[in-house]
Amino acid sequence: MPDTNRGIDVASNDPVADAAAVFDMLTGLVVAQTLRGIAALRIADHLSDGVMTAEEVAEREGSHPQATYRLMRAASSLGMLSHEGQHRFALTGRGRLLRSDVPGSLRSLVLAQAGGAHWQSWDHFPDAVRQGRTQTRQALGMDIFEYYAKPEHAEEAALFAQAMGDLSSLVTHGAVAAVSTADVSTVVDVGGSNGDFVLSLMEANPRLSGQVLDLAHAVEGARSEAEKRGLSDRFSAVAGDFFAEVPPADLYLLKTILHDWDDAQSATILRSCRSAVNEGGRALVVEMVIGEIGQPDDFATRSDMAMLTMTNGMERDLDEFDALFAASGWRRSKTYPVGGGYFGLELVAV
Ligand SMILES: C[S@@+](CC[C@H](N)C(=O)[O-])C[C@H]1O[C@@H](n2cnc3c(N)ncnc32)[C@H](O)[C@@H]1O
Repeated sequence: MPDTNRGIDVASNDPVADAAAVFDMLTGLVVAQTLRGIAALRIADHLSDGVMTAEEVAEREGSHPQATYRLMRAASSLGMLSHEGQHRFALTGRGRLLRSDVPGSLRSLVLAQAGGAHWQSWDHFPDAVRQGRTQTRQALGMDIFEYYAKPEHAEEAALFAQAMGDLSSLVTHGAVAAVSTADVSTVVDVGGSNGDFVLSLMEANPRLSGQVLDLAHAVEGARSEAEKRGLSDRFSAVAGDFFAEVPPADLYLLKTILHDWDDAQSATILRSCRSAVNEGGRALVVEMVIGEIGQPDDFATRSDMAMLTMTNGMERDLDEFDALFAASGWRRSKTYPVGGGYFGLELVAV
């Protein structure tokens, strides 16, 4: 039998090695919280000025000196920091990703995923499997997008939007390079959040007019992002509900949207696009695609577990996607990797 996880031979029958493997996997929660600590205490930002002692970082941050040292020591064994001796630490390449001010920063993603609504919902994970549905109602009293829309959760919603934007930038570059917009005038980013994807396409093609359709709380962020990039004259953001109606377009972008919803809901979103698409128009779905079962360190199936807990959605394999497209008036015409484990699935109307 082949290795299936981190090089451990699943057929070894070595109880010591097997126990070590299980223990290692279990400490995943500690690893996630260590990253969160580094992000929350802005340790990577502090160290961007150069090597510092844990005590200096603690003084800047107003945190407990010994606890800060222990956190930085733990982060060093994850390769996030390097220990330079005598409690002095430096930032590593991967630690740099938790700075707030660098392109490709993952700081907001760490804070959004390892805290708040997400973390509370994981406590109910076994029930998500028993019942086959999200446990955010049990954990938060409402579904996740309702939660983010509440004014009292505005800060967490902004963090999530930032996290989505940062993650987006990892794949946007590849998707923009792969999709042809030669025959396109209007693009609607369905559930486009801060609009990073459509704005990047508009930067690449100065003839495109772009629009974000999202819930009311998200559209202001998209407008200000367009203004920041000097694209306001070709851009608009509208508040709406993609289950009800989407504006007409030559090209719809659905990036990490379908994985939030079950098959019936996803088909409704795709049908909204199918009803409104201009003659000869297309849709571009960007999602992870689950491949062969049992691949080591398979991020798509891990994300699938998060989808089960946080949403009624799921990550899908290509057969599952194709069934969804066929049920909603679309056919997959092109498939290409766009980076970060994501794929572009181009759809034509049938
Ligand atoms: C996982 S995020 C993806 C954001 C963006 N497409 C990206 O990849 O960065 C899902 C987005 O769908 C939006 N959304 C959720 N329900 C919606 C609805 N009924 N109508 C329109 N947008 C919705 C959320 O506000 C959020 O911005």
